[in-house]
Amino acid sequence: MADLSRRGLLTGGAVTAVAGTLAGCSAERPVATARPPATGSAIEPFHGPHQAGIATVPQAHAVFLGLDLLPGTGRGDIARMMRLLTDDARRLAQGRPALADPEPELAAPPARLTFTFGFGPGLFTAAGLEDRRPEAVRPLPSFGIDRLEDRWNDGDLLVQICADDGVVLAHALRMVVKDARAFTRVRWVQRGFRRSPGVQPAGTTQRNLMGQLDGTVNPSPGTPGFERAVWVTDGPAWLRGGTTLVLRRIRMNLEKWDEADPVAKEFAVGRRLGTGAPLTGRAERDEPDLAAVDSRGLPVISENAHIRLARAPAPELRILRRSYNYDEGLTPEGRSDSGLLFASYQADITRQFLPVQRRLDEGNDLLNLWTTPIGSAVFAIPPGCDEDGWIGRTLLG
Ligand code: HEM
Repeated sequence: MADLSRRGLLTGGAVTAVAGTLAGCSAERPVATARPPATGSAIEPFHGPHQAGIATVPQAHAVFLGLDLLPGTGRGDIARMMRLLTDDARRLAQGRPALADPEPELAAPPARLTFTFGFGPGLFTAAGLEDRRPEAVRPLPSFGIDRLEDRWNDGDLLVQICADDGVVLAHALRMVVKDARAFTRVRWVQRGFRRSPGVQPAGTTQRNLMGQLDGTVNPSPGTPGFERAVWVTDGPAWLRGGTTLVLRRIRMNLEKWDEADPVAKEFAVGRRLGTGAPLTGRAERDEPDLAAVDSRGLPVISENAHIRLARAPAPELRILRRSYNYDEGLTPEGRSDSGLLFASYQADITRQFLPVQRRLDEGNDLLNLWTTPIGSAVFAIPPGCDEDGWIGRTLLG
């Protein structure tokens, strides 16, 4: 055993032979395979002008971690922490252990692991950089539909971690919390999921837990419309190439939803449950005809339908929805504790997000009968960095 190199052990033939000999297994016994399947070995680039985890095709699992800075943590400390966390993130995203990783075996495969860091209002105050905080990076105005619970609100620092594998995600989260511990305390942890890789063709719109196709009308990464809607180009210099995130935890009352019939469910959104087509069309991508009326002269897509109220008046005013389902099991009363981690990225919260949220609130969006915002947090997402850089340098460096 001693003369077998570690590298040798990692190759398939050696693993098969050695595992068989050492454990005395029969040939039929399943043994470790040499190469992880494509899903596991896939790497999302960490370096670049933008942070990963935004234009990235959504992975199956996400955890949003909200941290508060410990009292007395200033600009130099925050910069030190961001250097450390950037180093962890760039290694882990490539499937390599972080420095002093307590479980280096869990670092591979990377399974498309991404990290996305965001700065909440309190970080600017702690760093003495209040004058560089974008105006809209502060708690949202309150809306009539809100029933916010403080345990899901705000936060000084966001770390969004996404991967196609739950074990990879758990390890990455543990590393980040460990290395941020000297500077922060955990405010909230919100876990979410989407379809697992391979269960449906790539590019299929995901379903939320109300059963709807969710994400049909969204800017497409790689198009000029996406670039304009998502990345900051003319805001504060330090934020160029970055974006902003509004994270809303929205509870779904699934028991009440179960009582609605399919016609009412489709009327509330303005789209069909099966195909996701607008009520005026046949296929998911058909343009909704908002002027269409039925035989009684009433709008086919209701004045209060979600898609009518949520619709942006121009493509550059769209938001990028990259949401995750959450399901925390059941309440003590046996009711579902589920909903959406609604994650909206946009270059400008005031021009893009707020008008939509106001219309949904004041226009009596029918979906509000079944959904309730219970958490709200806003972050500036700094640009990405290169091999020698670190996330946040443009602000804190
Ligand atoms: C649990 C809460 C929510 C659910 C279940 C939900 C569900 C949906 C569904 C099924 C669609 C139609 C398909 C699509 O284009 O994705 C949709 C569209 C949309 N939703 Fe929501 N949504 C929720 C909350 C919100 C919130 C809070 C906002 C923004 C403040 C929002 C903004 C939008 C936008 C911009 C569209 C596309 C509208 C269009 O141009 O056709 N949604 N949503």
